[in-house]
Amino acid sequence: MSKNLINFSDISKKDIFDLIELANNFKTEDSLDYRNEDLFPDKKIVSMFCEPSTRTKLSFEIAAYNLGAKFIDFDLSNSSMNKGETLEDTMNAIDMMGVDLCIMRHTESVIHDFAEKFPNMQFVNAGEGSISHPTQTLIDLMTILESKEISENLKITVVGDLDHSRVVNSFVEAIQIVGYKSLTFCGHPDLCKNFIDGPIGSFEPDLETALQDADVVMALRIQNERLSEKLTISANDYIERYQINVDSLQVADPNMILLHPGPVNFGIELSKEVSELDNCKIKNQIFNGVGMRMAVLTRLFSQA
Ligand code: CP
Repeated sequence: MSKNLINFSDISKKDIFDLIELANNFKTEDSLDYRNEDLFPDKKIVSMFCEPSTRTKLSFEIAAYNLGAKFIDFDLSNSSMNKGETLEDTMNAIDMMGVDLCIMRHTESVIHDFAEKFPNMQFVNAGEGSISHPTQTLIDLMTILESKEISENLKITVVGDLDHSRVVNSFVEAIQIVGYKSLTFCGHPDLCKNFIDGPIGSFEPDLETALQDADVVMALRIQNERLSEKLTISANDYIERYQINVDSLQVADPNMILLHPGPVNFGIELSKEVSELDNCKIKNQIFNGVGMRMAVLTRLFSQA
């Protein structure tokens, strides 16, 4: 594993499985919480979120707390960036204060450049625009492996706004490393332009066909904040054609599991009632987020 986690070129197949094992090992015996370990009392972590977040930021903060590390949540909205200071000058100031690791979320692909400019700090990508979100994918793989074996034939279907999803890009990178091969993409063509003739998997515009015998279904929200043009489909039509609900899941495998990285627009891409099904693993994904981020921080600090 590299000293930073910015994308999947920083980790090998073995690293992925080691991280999942480590994350599971942090769970308490009843698997309802995580153990508190005072492993890194001297480490200082700064979170630099230039886009909103709930799950990623909080789970990193709780992970740091569980590991005994200090977590400093940089409040960008109340910082000197409001007085015109650039992000690079801000990072320079943070670097001067002896920070060990920066968890960064940004609208653009800048984290790699910052990692090169500030080699004294380690960097973790907490989501870059619609480009990548590797720790979310590690959580998704951990959650899949709780229910499903690794198999080339496992049928994975991803439904939603694919073009604006950082989650799907990291997921596609990782499942090729892990060895899943049966991948179907589904969604309104306006939101899936990069996937209609994409380099991996097949595109299926009809939801019922895409969900037929699916073992894993990943739903993704419409990323309204990233749309540059108004959609050519009304909200009602979108719900009619692409919503994952109890009816549409009838054709999936009876042991299918349902994932969604969150936040969920209930009533749009998912009906509320499916979130109550045993097959729905959204809560497991959120819980696994803490363990996986404990594992990522542990591995990165152990090789700093
Ligand atoms: N899945 C995810 O990244 O959620 P947040 O935007 O709430 O962090």
